[in-house]
Parts: sequence; structure tokens; C-alpha cells
Amino acid sequence: MAAPEPVRLLVHGASGRMGLEILGAARQRRDCEIVAAMVRAVSPCVGEPVSRKLPGFEPDLEFRPTLDPETAIDVVIDFSLPDALDTALGIARERRVAFVCGTTGLSLEQKNRLQDVAAHIPVLWSANFSLGVALLKRVVALAAAQLGDEFDAEILEIHHRHKRDAPSGTALALGQAIATARRQVFEDVARLSRDGIGSGRLPNEIGFASLRAADVVGEHTVIFASESERLEFTHRANSRAVFASGAVRSAIWLARQPPGWYDLADVLG
Ligand SMILES: NC(=O)c1ccc[n+]([C@@H]2O[C@H](COP(=O)([O-])OP(=O)(O)OC[C@H]3O[C@@H](n4cnc5c(N)ncnc54)[C@H](OP(=O)(O)O)[C@@H]3O)[C@@H](O)[C@H]2O)c1
Repeated sequence: MAAPEPVRLLVHGASGRMGLEILGAARQRRDCEIVAAMVRAVSPCVGEPVSRKLPGFEPDLEFRPTLDPETAIDVVIDFSLPDALDTALGIARERRVAFVCGTTGLSLEQKNRLQDVAAHIPVLWSANFSLGVALLKRVVALAAAQLGDEFDAEILEIHHRHKRDAPSGTALALGQAIATARRQVFEDVARLSRDGIGSGRLPNEIGFASLRAADVVGEHTVIFASESERLEFTHRANSRAVFASGAVRSAIWLARQPPGWYDLADVLG
């Protein structure tokens, strides 16, 4: 039987740290090809060959602010900024192709919009495309359900100095998993930061702390503490490649799915 045609990928936010990792990860595979590398209209990269940033990139494309109407695509991968979501989502919607999004810091309204669009195209948004974090979410939910309210839950995240949103999307997703496991409404129990003199820790709180330092790729620690013992679950990403390979794998899988809202767990099976 003939192998299926390679999945044609558009990468939006292609000149960024994650965009370049995704271009690099996709070129390692035979089941996909990059057909468009999109950036902002005002980006200094417009018109620059991708091979200048990734030597040997074949076929050589230019970073472009728009999609050529002649270029056929099967899926859009967006790792950019919340302000850029509309552009990327608009292309996926107009072309009726799958949409994989790793952009964090989206507003509730933007997340709702993504879910609405999933009625028309396959959509997968994840704050973290690493397999280890997908597993951490399951482990943390299990621990929260078993340990119950007697254990205080706190989440610490550390990222590089360029990260704009805090707490990280992954920290929020871990907090959400804990709240769901404890049958709590996340927004009622999440304490996203602490500062100054307050009233202390409320009984059901899920507390967050964010550190920003140098080039840390991403670390998350979930702490469950009682009066007499403490459990800590930590995930450390050593390189952005882990997110990029997860996003490319998800994109190839999602391109062949019917419209709907998907999770990384669906890709992992
Ligand atoms: N889900 C995950 O697993 C995961 C992992 C790591 C990071 N992230 C998230 O991925 C996003 C990108 O992170 P990064 O570290 O790669 O950031 P970055 O290095 O700042 O790159 C951002 C990219 O977005 C482009 N961009 C910005 N505004 C745009 C617009 N209006 N239209 C089109 N392109 C636009 C930039 O292009 P120009 O500046 O060249 O125009 C650049 O290529 C962040 O939200 C980050 O939190 C997610």
C-alpha cells in the first residue's frame, strides 16, 4: 500500500524560539513538509530565507507575513502571541484545515473562540506539548483526589527571562487538574500570586509562584503538603525540542481527524 501523502504544515510564529524548533523537528520527518513559515508584517525576518536561520533547510522558503493563495495546506501550527491568534485561526478556518495551537496567555474569550471554531475544524490547544507533562497532569490529578483537602496544593514554575505570561499555561493546567479532581471550581480556589500582608492561606487554595531566570526552558513543581509530610512532583524540560516534536506529531495526527476539540491525551492514545 502506498504511504499517505506528507501532511503540509503552515507554521505561524515561525521565526520565534518555538517556531524555529518546529521547523527543525518537521524536517526530521518524512510524513510532513513545511510549506509556509509565517511571521508579523513588521517582522525583521520578512523576506529572509529560512535557511539563514536553519542552515540546509529544504526546500528553502522565505519567512512571509501572508499565505500565498496558491499554497495548499493541511494544518496550521501556531506558536506566537495571543495578539496574533486571530490571524492564524482565521487562516485555518478559511482553508478548513486543522489548527494546532501552543500559544499561551490566551484570554478566556480566546479559549472560548477556539472551542467554538472546533465545530468546523479539528482544533488542539495545549499549554505544553511534552509527554512528560501530559503524564504529570494525570499523576497530579490522582494525587489530589487521593490526598483530599487536608493537603495544601502549591505550584511553582520557572521559565526563561523572555516569557511574558505568568503563571505559565502549564501551571494553570496543572492547577485546573487539581481543582477538577477535588471537585472545585478552579477560579474560586486559584491564588495566582501573593504579595504584601494578607490573611494567610485559605484552606482550599491552590497557590502559584512564578520565577523568571536566564534561559530556563521550563520547570514545574507541584507540592502537596500536610502538617507532617510533603510530596513534590517535578517536571523539567531540558530543551524546547520536546515541545516541538510533540506539536509536529499532534499536527500530523490532527490533520486526519474530523472537526472537534482535541487534547494531547487523544494524540497519545
Ligand atoms: N505549548 C507549549 O508546549 C509551549 C512551549 C513553549 C512555548 N510556548 C508558547 O509559545 C509562544 C511562543 O513562544 P516563543 O518562545 O517561541 O516566543 P518568541 O520567540 O517571542 O516568538 C514569537 C513568534 O511569534 C511571532 N509573532 C508575534 N506577533 C505576531 C503576529 N501578530 N503575527 C504573526 N506572528 C507574530 C514572532 O515573529 P516576529 O517577531 O519575527 O514577527 C515570533 O516568530 C508563547 O506563547 C509561549 O508561551 C508554548
